[in-house]
Amino acid sequence: MAFDFDPVAPTYDRLNRIMTAGLDRRWRRRAVQALGTQASSLRPHPAFHVLDVACGTGDLSLDLLRRGHRVTGVDLSEQMLALARRKAAAARFQLADAEALPFPDASFDAVTCAFGIRNFVHLEKGLGEMLRVLKPGGRLVILELATPDSPLLRPFYDLYARRVIPLLGRLLARNRQAYTYLPASIESFPKGQAFLDILQNSKFKVQNCREQRFTFGVCRLYAATKE
Ligand SMILES: C[S@@+](CC[C@H](N)C(=O)[O-])C[C@H]1O[C@@H](n2cnc3c(N)ncnc32)[C@H](O)[C@@H]1O
Repeated sequence: MAFDFDPVAPTYDRLNRIMTAGLDRRWRRRAVQALGTQASSLRPHPAFHVLDVACGTGDLSLDLLRRGHRVTGVDLSEQMLALARRKAAAARFQLADAEALPFPDASFDAVTCAFGIRNFVHLEKGLGEMLRVLKPGGRLVILELATPDSPLLRPFYDLYARRVIPLLGRLLARNRQAYTYLPASIESFPKGQAFLDILQNSKFKVQNCREQRFTFGVCRLYAATKE
């Protein structure tokens, strides 16, 4: 069963800022840049329609709107969506499951997903859906958290993820469970080449697959173009 984000919605943004020291905003901006539309960034792109999957409270949707794109956001949590609607009023938000997207094939110019894919119950199904609704030649951009590769950093990361994050979750969100789930879900999610392999083995053909690592690899950007 999917993890329920409704209870963490009211404190989600504040906790994000604190836990990442504000880096989450920078990482999302890198995802917008990875769509490859910045060459003509001075002009708005109202016809360039982006689907923001697992949009949560709408931070990435807002960045996409600021770039001038048309944005549709979907999420499983009504409480997260309520905040997104307030934050990014020019986008269209709807309750939908990434694993069964209510859109026709090839209906979006780009698809994004920030820190959401790790929560899918069936990863391949969600990936397949995101690629199905993407137009041929469209870009899929995924941001996800990961453990750092360096063994030197690992003890510091483990201390932060296993002790500090649940403590902050308990104190600031009054929800230790959600913030114990967070590091556990990061740990068990495929990263780097393992994730790219899953992407490349999808039933939809992709090209130009690449991974970018930010902040010692604790945030990864995966991008691919649908053939
Ligand atoms: C960690 S939040 C990320 C939110 C936002 N994209 C961001 O950048 O902060 C994960 C979001 O994924 C959503 N989610 C999880 N599984 C989903 C699914 N199968 N379909 C749609 N949304 C899903 C959750 O409801 C939650 O809002």
